[in-house]
Amino acid sequence: MNRIKFNTYPTPIEFYGEYNNNNIYIKRDDLTEPALGGNKVRKLELFLADAKNKNADYIVTYGAPQSNHCRLTVAMAHKMGFKTLLILSESKVVNYNGNFFIFDLFDTEIVWTGTDRVPKTIENTLGELKRKGFNPYFIQGGGHGNIGTHAYKLAFDEIKEQEQQMNVSFDYIFHASGTGTTQSGLIAGKLINNSNINIVGISVARNEERGKEVIEESLVGYFEEYSKEIQIFKNEIIFIDDYVGKGYADIYPEIISTIKYVVRNSSLLLDPVYTGKAFYGMLKHLENNEIKNRNILFIHTGGIPLLFNYASNFKEE
Ligand SMILES: Cc1ncc(COP(=O)(O)O)c(C=O)c1O
Repeated sequence: MNRIKFNTYPTPIEFYGEYNNNNIYIKRDDLTEPALGGNKVRKLELFLADAKNKNADYIVTYGAPQSNHCRLTVAMAHKMGFKTLLILSESKVVNYNGNFFIFDLFDTEIVWTGTDRVPKTIENTLGELKRKGFNPYFIQGGGHGNIGTHAYKLAFDEIKEQEQQMNVSFDYIFHASGTGTTQSGLIAGKLINNSNINIVGISVARNEERGKEVIEESLVGYFEEYSKEIQIFKNEIIFIDDYVGKGYADIYPEIISTIKYVVRNSSLLLDPVYTGKAFYGMLKHLENNEIKNRNILFIHTGGIPLLFNYASNFKEE
């Protein structure tokens, strides 16, 4: 599969500190470029190469008005010379800061849709572009799909190489899990490499049952396409929904205090929707399960614009 690299890899792995007698390391996928980076960069490097191979001229994707995936799709596609169009879910209040502000800097074309009409709006928008003579390429929300999964299979291989260079062996990888694509890729890497590392996705929205189901489906689809005969056991997928709170973007006080604690300890910025929730979830999971004396890797998946978007939540504490 082709990849158009926007960065030099590997992204760094830094020692963060000790917690509950564990060594915590952080893989800095937030340091990727362009436009404030994040985990979507690795996925889009593959999707946009595929779009180029297919002679596409318009990149279309879907997301919420504060989607990190939409921000990076626009920034990366723009840099490669594609036209871009975002299909965004309507919401009563649109906050023009954060990711939305960044789409707007690019003067991105936006089509609004009700959440009950998403497939129809996508179909109509692509149909309209084709009628106008364009060759659009559609990327699923969040960079979901086999290509997105493959991106984090490659990231897993990268981590294996870094372990050798650093002379460290990680027992756990923790990260924020949303569409489950990042986690599917990491699990695919683990299975292909016959590794017994624990990959723990801290859910930012879905319940455990739904989260595991989607990850299992992604893995089945991925291994079918890559013709690998690998058995997947759903109960081996570790998808923790204990820290979701009331749902997506529920920013409860422990997330705010975790973000403050981490920044004051290490100058590392986390966001309240994804990485702050996941970091808090990781610390609690280590404590509650009495996990000690292990090497733990937290993947910082980005999302920095959301920190600015939710600044008022920090003031109210
Ligand atoms: C900052 C950040 N972290 C993690 C995730 C979750 O990634 P995935 O959708 O692959 O589970 C996302 C997805 O939107 C994200 O923006």
